[in-house]
Amino acid sequence: MATAFAPGKCILFGEHAVVYGHPAVAVAIDAGVEVKLETSDKWEIKNDHYSNNFEEFQASKNPHIQHIIRNVFDYNGLPLKIKIKSNLFSSAGLGSSAALSNAMGAALHQLINPEDEINQIKLAKIGHSAEASAQEGRASPTDSATSSLGGCIVVSGEKDEHLNHVFDTSLTTPEGNREWSIHSVELHKNIKDSWLVLGFTGRAAPTGDMVSGVAERLKQKPELYAEMQAIENITKAGLTALELGNLEAVGIAMNSCHEKLKILGVSSDSLDNMVLATRHHSFGSKLTGAGGGGCMVALTNDPQRVAQEIELCGGQPLISKFGSKGAHIKKE
Ligand code: PMV
Repeated sequence: MATAFAPGKCILFGEHAVVYGHPAVAVAIDAGVEVKLETSDKWEIKNDHYSNNFEEFQASKNPHIQHIIRNVFDYNGLPLKIKIKSNLFSSAGLGSSAALSNAMGAALHQLINPEDEINQIKLAKIGHSAEASAQEGRASPTDSATSSLGGCIVVSGEKDEHLNHVFDTSLTTPEGNREWSIHSVELHKNIKDSWLVLGFTGRAAPTGDMVSGVAERLKQKPELYAEMQAIENITKAGLTALELGNLEAVGIAMNSCHEKLKILGVSSDSLDNMVLATRHHSFGSKLTGAGGGGCMVALTNDPQRVAQEIELCGGQPLISKFGSKGAHIKKE
């Protein structure tokens, strides 16, 4: 038997601009996905999110898991009983599919090699390959790297000499070869002592549609490219504030980032309502991830009040510490 947990993620700065080579900053959150594997006499799966019973494992319904079993590990052992537990909102921009892929990769590695915990960089690459294979070759490594490494991660189109460089990765996409550098950032104690409160609108908005919407608007109005550069400047200011532990400055950068994302056309009325309502009790707030629906995030020292504001707006809150531990094996 082997059990692994991998956290979800929240993008603090740089969503959408990262698609065009600008940097993005993401942190691992407390909520995530647990995968438990047991050998059995038949292939079975249960996801607590959707069902109380084990069902026959179907590759087409579980593309990330299938990719890891067949293409990554080429597993030929006894059939597996796969149990999935998640406390992430799904299709909400919190990286649930990367967390699932990483937890599955770590658990299967542990089952096959019980004495040897998997390397976090190798796991991030496994998670990224599972996401790419399930999304027709298009996936940024942001979710898989943040979930595997934990803490605070910067993903950019090129190596940043000022940051702690962890690894580089590339992917052949239908649009050509793409390369990314992954860096880690040490968070200041003030930041670690504060709280993130996420608010789910209850509406899933497919990331692919939001990304192609931005591409379309850029074609119509090329002057919007200036907003991408503005997001990069905000991201860099936000990053410095995170390193210095200046909560007010992180909050101001979050607010500015939200305004830029609104100009790119990726916010919605419900995101704007929650973002504005939570500002009374937070340092700053913004939509996080692809937008359209999905989630917003607020930085605060008063998480219960912020969670209440989110509920009053009709959203579902999730309170998290900053930069949780990355994917790991759970000892029984
Ligand atoms: O849906 P999410 O939270 O994984 O956000 C996607 C972030 C984008 O920048 C919009 C897309 C990407 O591939 O980075």
